Order: sequence, then C-alpha cells, then structure tokens
Amino acid sequence: MDFNLTEEHIMIRDAARDFAQNELLPGVIERDEQQHFPEALVKKMAALGFMGVMVAPEYGGSGMDTVSYVLIMEELSKVDASASVIVSVNNSLVCYGLEAFGTEAQKQKYLTKLATGEFVGAFCLSEPEAGSDATSQKTTAIDKGDHYLINGTKNWITNGGRADVYLVVAQTDRDKGSHGINVFIVEKGMEGFHVGPKENKLGIRGSDTHTLQFNDVKVPKENRIGEDGFGFSFAMKTLSGGRIGIAAQALGIAQGAYELALEYANQRKAFGKVISQHQIIAFKLADMYTEISAARHMVMKAAWDKDQNLNYDVSSAMAKLYASKVAMVHTVEAVQIFGGNGFVKEYHVERLMRDAKITQIYEGTSEIQKIVISRSILKV
Ligand code: CAA
Ligand code: FAD
Repeated sequence: MDFNLTEEHIMIRDAARDFAQNELLPGVIERDEQQHFPEALVKKMAALGFMGVMVAPEYGGSGMDTVSYVLIMEELSKVDASASVIVSVNNSLVCYGLEAFGTEAQKQKYLTKLATGEFVGAFCLSEPEAGSDATSQKTTAIDKGDHYLINGTKNWITNGGRADVYLVVAQTDRDKGSHGINVFIVEKGMEGFHVGPKENKLGIRGSDTHTLQFNDVKVPKENRIGEDGFGFSFAMKTLSGGRIGIAAQALGIAQGAYELALEYANQRKAFGKVISQHQIIAFKLADMYTEISAARHMVMKAAWDKDQNLNYDVSSAMAKLYASKVAMVHTVEAVQIFGGNGFVKEYHVERLMRDAKITQIYEGTSEIQKIVISRSILKV
C-alpha cells in the first residue's frame, strides 16, 4: 500500500487550493446570499481543466485520474461547495456518462464542449414522484421512428437553468420496468423544453437548481445513449462515480470548517487562555481531525478503486455515507467552537454547516447508501 500522493497529485491539489483561496473565497458570502451562479468562475475553472478532469485529452479533457479529481473537489469545497457541485455534476455525471457510454458522434458533438467548459451539463433523473425510488419514472419518451417524444417533469436539477446539455432519463416501455428506461441528450432551447423558477435553498445557494418541464420535446434517435433499455443501468453506474465526487465535496466542507475552527481556537481567549487550551475544545479538534482523516481514506479508496478498474459501487456509497456524516457533525462543532461568531456569515462556518446538509441528500440519500451497502453484504 502506498498512501503517498505523486508529484502530479500535489501540483494539481496546490493549483486547486490557490484557485479556491484567490478566486472563490472573495465573493463567496455574496454569491451565497444572492444565490448567484458563478459564471465567470466557471470559465476560470474550465481554463484550469477542472470541468473535464478525467476526460481523455482527445475529447478536450485533462486526462487526469480520479484521485486528482477528488483532490480538486476537496480543495474547491473547502471554500465554496456551490462551485464544486457545478464541477462535480459536469465531470462525474455528464462527462463520464458520455465518455463511458456515448457514441463517437455524441462525444464529438457534446463531450468535447463539456470537457472544455464551453458547455455546462445537467443530469436529470429525479422527479416529483421518483427521488430515492428512481425506477418509478413518470417522464415518458415515446418512440416515433426517427425521434422520441419526451413528456414529463424533472425536479431539483443542478445547473438546471444554466446548462447547455441535459442528460434526461425517461420511461420508454413501462411493461419492462427498470429495463424500459432510457437516457437522452436534450439541448437547451429544444422546442417544448421549459425551465421553471430557481429553488430558494438552505445551502449551496450559489448553485442553480430548477424544475424542468418537457412538453412533446422531439429528440432525435441518435441522442439516445446506449442500447435500448440501458437508461437505468446508465444512471446507476454514473451515480457510483458521482458519489465519489460528492463524498469529496463533503470531505472538503468538513476540512474547511476544521481549519477555520483550529485557527479560531488558537486565537480566541476565554478564562485567561486560548480556548484550544481548554480540554473540551482540544478534544473536539481531535475528533474532527481523526474522523476527517478517516473520511479522506475512504474517499481516496473509492477513487483508487475506480482508477484500478475495480468495482466501486460499494466503496463510493460507503465514502459518501461516512464523509457526509462527518461533514454534518463537524460543521456543527465548528460553529460551536466559534461561539456567537459562528452564527454570523462573515466567519464562513455557518455557510459550511448549511452546505454540509445537502451531501446527505443528493446523489442518493444516506438511507439509500445504506441500502446499496447492506444489499452487497447480504447479497439480496
Ligand atoms: N450498476 C448497474 N446496474 C444496476 C446498478 C448498478 N450500480 N444498481 C442497480 N442496477 C440494476 C439492477 O441490477 C436491476 O437490474 P435487474 O432487474 O436486471 O437485476 C435494476 O438496475 C434495478 O435495480 P434495483 O432492483 O436495485 O432497483 P431499486 O428500485 O431497488 O433501486 C436504488 C435501487 C439503489 C435504491 C436506486 O433506485 C437508487 O440509487 N436511488 C437513489 C437515486 C439517486 O441517487 N438519485 C440521484 C439523482 S442525481 C443527483 O442527485 C445529482 C446531484 O444532486 C448533484
Ligand atoms: P424521497 O425519496 O422522498 O425521500 C424522503 C426520505 O425518505 C429520505 O430521508 C429518504 O432517505 C427516505 N427514504 C426513501 N426511500 C427509502 C427506503 N427505501 N428506505 C429508507 N428510507 C427511505 N436530482 C437529479 O436528478 N439531478 C440533480 O442534478 C439533482 N440535484 C439536486 C440538488 C439539490 C439541491 C437537491 C435538494 C436535490 C437534487 N437532486 C437532483 C435530487 C436528489 O437526488 C433527491 O432529492 C434525492 O435523491 C432524494 O429524493 P427525494 O427528495 O424525492 O426524497
């Protein structure tokens, strides 16, 4: 076992760290307050290769491994989880899905632009009546010969109002259950495709979340990804990688809160000494450091599994389950260490606490991760 990062890994981590400190940190509070999508910052992240981290260079990507991706996600999320979820969806759900399962024509037309950040992507699985229960798709895609006609509603879609390309999951044959589901590439502006109002959220407020409506949207047959009936497997396989990205996001949120709390605890005085010298605060920091380190090992293991072409369905579920719990528990503790200052925006930890919550909900709730993990143990 080698736990060391390579020189390349350290370089990319440091580049992401510098970018987060110099570009994401200024303005992060205002973007959160105003629910402002960071358009200019997305362009800058694209220039650094962060929008297509793992995509092969021949398709415009950076050709890096999943460990590099996790390092980038952690560094961005330490400062701004709204920016990192844009990166996460574009990379692990949209670019990965197209590169792994798309045709050469689909890759040339869409992946090349998504990987360079010219396009932003969205992944549309959830519906008002199909969240955790993702096989209960109500959106339909009817085969009309040379095209499909899509009707239905998707909700909670990240990048929903901003994206250029949407991967849309829909039921094509209800009698076949999960094997009668397909996934389609829908372009912004296609007739009958409408974007609903932006959600007003607790956290990741700088990310762009919308309900989408599809009314007789005509999608050419060549926009279906994979063989007929591959859509649900596509979603599950893609989400396994996505969960590594969200686990890394949770890790970054926790690490960001820990670093702020450590610095504060070493400065703030109470009862004649800095509060880090009170054992109960020192022990909080010890718990944070230990559990964040454990989460990092799990996130890296899942990334390594993917890079080694090993199965990562369970390691990604475990990493997301654990890292998101660590993020939630320890951002609350960070606020506590800051006392009253923790409750106001300028100290950043309240935002990290609000942002932590989503990591236990999206890309499969914690309960769903436990279903994936327990089924693998029990083989049911
Ligand atoms: N790879 C390939 N195929 C898979 C698979 C995988 N990882 N997991 C399941 N399948 C297959 C199964 O083998 C099964 O096929 P067979 O009938 O041939 O065996 C079929 O898919 C149906 O699987 P299940 O019977 O296991 O389906 P289920 O109804 O019990 O649901 C579930 C399983 C794991 C709960 C799944 O529905 C799930 O993951 N739900 C959560 C949905 C989710 O994560 N949504 C995230 C939306 S995207 C998002 O959130 C992005 C964002 O915020 C930024
Ligand atoms: P439900 O499925 O209704 O779950 C409600 C509660 O019941 C949860 O606690 C859940 O864990 C529990 N539960 C459900 N079933 C079981 C069970 N079998 N056993 C035990 N407990 C269970 N989706 C996309 O497709 N694309 C996106 O880009 C996207 N981005 C999102 C961004 C945000 C900010 C949010 C809030 C959501 C996003 N989602 C996205 C949707 C997200 O994936 C779903 O919210 C999530 O999968 C849960 O679905 P639900 O909200 O319908 O909750």
